[in-house]
Amino acid sequence: MSEDISRISIVGAGTMGSGIAQLFLHENVSVFLIDSMEKALERAKKRIIDQFEMLSHYGLFDRNNIDRVMDNLKTSVEISAIAESDLIIEAVPEKLSLKHEVFRQIETYCRDEAIITTNTSGISINEIVSVLKKPDRALGTHFFMPANIIPLVEVVRSDYTSKETIDKVMHLLQAVGKKPVLINKDIPGFIANRIQHALAREAISLLESGVATAEDIDTVVRYSIGMRLLFTGPLEQRDVNGLDIHHDIAAYLYKELENRQTPVPLLTSKVEKGELGIKTGKGFYEWNESPETILRRKNDQLYKLIYWMKNNI
Ligand SMILES: NC(=O)c1ccc[n+]([C@@H]2O[C@H](COP(=O)([O-])OP(=O)(O)OC[C@H]3O[C@@H](n4cnc5c(N)ncnc54)[C@H](O)[C@@H]3O)[C@@H](O)[C@H]2O)c1
Repeated sequence: MSEDISRISIVGAGTMGSGIAQLFLHENVSVFLIDSMEKALERAKKRIIDQFEMLSHYGLFDRNNIDRVMDNLKTSVEISAIAESDLIIEAVPEKLSLKHEVFRQIETYCRDEAIITTNTSGISINEIVSVLKKPDRALGTHFFMPANIIPLVEVVRSDYTSKETIDKVMHLLQAVGKKPVLINKDIPGFIANRIQHALAREAISLLESGVATAEDIDTVVRYSIGMRLLFTGPLEQRDVNGLDIHHDIAAYLYKELENRQTPVPLLTSKVEKGELGIKTGKGFYEWNESPETILRRKNDQLYKLIYWMKNNI
């Protein structure tokens, strides 16, 4: 583990906060999980134990150690509980005013040397840290759902973040087995969401224009470029194919691609009709199972993949 960071607090015990807590507990780090709602803390504890059970099912954790690692988890509804921490990770809902309020409170109670990070999906890190007296100690750590499984963390520096802060956070994340990537510019969507949205915008547009069914569009992506992406990133793949060939295709294809500046109308109409995906039973597909059952199955597939990656990559 990191010499500089051994005590961690997470503020916000929802989907992301509980996943991040589980990741650190797995590595025998003490975690203080804080939420304004006692119920959220109870739910988070159950979720964390459930995830450890799942890990042990795939041989990624020893079930006999669950009680021991759970002893390293403390919870509180008081934000002052962060007082002894070396690192405080904010994971409250994606509203700038709320993040400002929480960042101000964190700075009131935290140690002078403590590092503060935000798990924002896309709000400007510069804007979030602007309320701090010492913004050099803060940056973005964008974990992906489920945070305990997906290896990547986008580490996003603001204009004020010190090199020392970046180095300490990168080192910690590497020490707990994550793949941190430093994003040097505080741009909307960082890297992953920009690329994910470019892909989704094109896919929704193709569906809207009747080129193929949702299932067929997904099949094309999953069984072609999707399979390759785990081994060869989009830039490396261009080198493999040849930049001249890519350039020729780009020259005639780019003008054909979806480039609207607002959401594709098919997406807007689905949202207006309440067709929001698994949570309402209909989105681009019909869903007949509960969101919990679907998410459990998706996580199960990811665990199998991680297990395979540990032994093969
Ligand atoms: N869910 C995702 O897929 C995902 C992925 C990456 C990043 N994020 C980002 O992570 C952050 C958290 O998202 P989430 O999905 O975990 O949200 P969530 O709604 O599941 O959890 C947020 C938690 O914060 C608590 N909270 C609200 N106000 C608080 C306060 N003042 N003090 C302490 N706790 C408070 C809530 O009670 C809730 O338990 C957001 O910024 C989101 O954009 C989410």
